Amino acid sequence: MSEYIIELDKLTKKFGDFTAVNEVSFSVRPGEIIGYLGPNGSGKTTTMRMLLGLLRPTFGSARVLGFDIERDSEQIRPLVGYMSQKFALYEDLTVLENMQFYAGVYGLGDSASRERINTVLELIGLTEHSRAMASDMSGGWRQRLALGIALVHQPRLLFLDEPTSGVDPSARREFWDLIYTLAEQGTTIFVSTHYMDEAEHCGRVGIMFRGRLMAMDTPDALKQTYLPGKAWDIDADDLLPALEALEQTPGITQAGLLGDRLHAITDGDAHDAASLQAALVERGVADAQVAEADPTLEDVFVALAGHGAAQE
Ligand SMILES: Nc1ncnc2c1ncn2[C@@H]1O[C@H](COP(=O)(O)OP(=O)(O)OP(=O)(O)O)[C@@H](O)[C@H]1O
Ligand SMILES: [Mg+2]
Repeated sequence: MSEYIIELDKLTKKFGDFTAVNEVSFSVRPGEIIGYLGPNGSGKTTTMRMLLGLLRPTFGSARVLGFDIERDSEQIRPLVGYMSQKFALYEDLTVLENMQFYAGVYGLGDSASRERINTVLELIGLTEHSRAMASDMSGGWRQRLALGIALVHQPRLLFLDEPTSGVDPSARREFWDLIYTLAEQGTTIFVSTHYMDEAEHCGRVGIMFRGRLMAMDTPDALKQTYLPGKAWDIDADDLLPALEALEQTPGITQAGLLGDRLHAITDGDAHDAASLQAALVERGVADAQVAEADPTLEDVFVALAGHGAAQE
């Protein structure tokens, strides 16, 4: 078997004339946490569903755990866990009953399943709540139960499709702690998200844009490769004129709103704080405060999306 746990070679899915996943190639080693970042409709779920053998590729190929996704999909499914974007819980069953149901689906025997369910309940922090009805649970708990269900058969590889969408920030953090714990225990994790901050936590991140994988690397390497300048935070009383001024300033490759301030990327050594400040004053923005900032994956995404859109 190859050293890779997932291997895609120009994997492509067309729906009619529309190409949802366009010649995507990458490889994943055992134990990695791979983030799959992209906006709505960029092809994340479609990629996952092909890798799970739930959707046939139009072209290209992929292997998961050494098995061909088309020929051997029956062998892949029992070995991987999948938390789908629209996971379904049995609302009129308790936490424990939901887990028991899925343990049955995976053919775990009674005693094996009892032991495994206890371990998983402990891991997801729902041991004390095993009798709670699914229908009564908060978003964060539901997400954890859905993860527990995906883990009940002890998969070596876990596909999580936007597992934290719609849950509050503290539940998101707890969920990511769980992802780390699983990775430390040796599970390989492929997780899609559209939260840039979550992608920062991944070992490597693939950036999807309109069906294409624009890049895949560690967060630091992505920033070094695609943002060869500096990042700046700029505050001003009136942000829109300041943004216009930035857009007219030579040496700025991208600028936009970030929360309640502006964020800009400069080309190479084109600017320091003083020269940026001077450029803003020259364009009528006298009160701007300029501070060097850390580049973010959002910046990388904007740079790559601009590049991708220009190619089309
Ligand atoms: N069965 C289908 N038939 C036709 N088009 C489809 C089908 N499934 C997905 N698509 C289209 O393919 C594109 C990619 O969809 P996909 O669900 O993979 O995106 P995504 O990155 O998971 O988005 P989201 O963040 O919203 O979940 C979208 O434009 C979607 O409308
Ligand atoms: Mg999706």
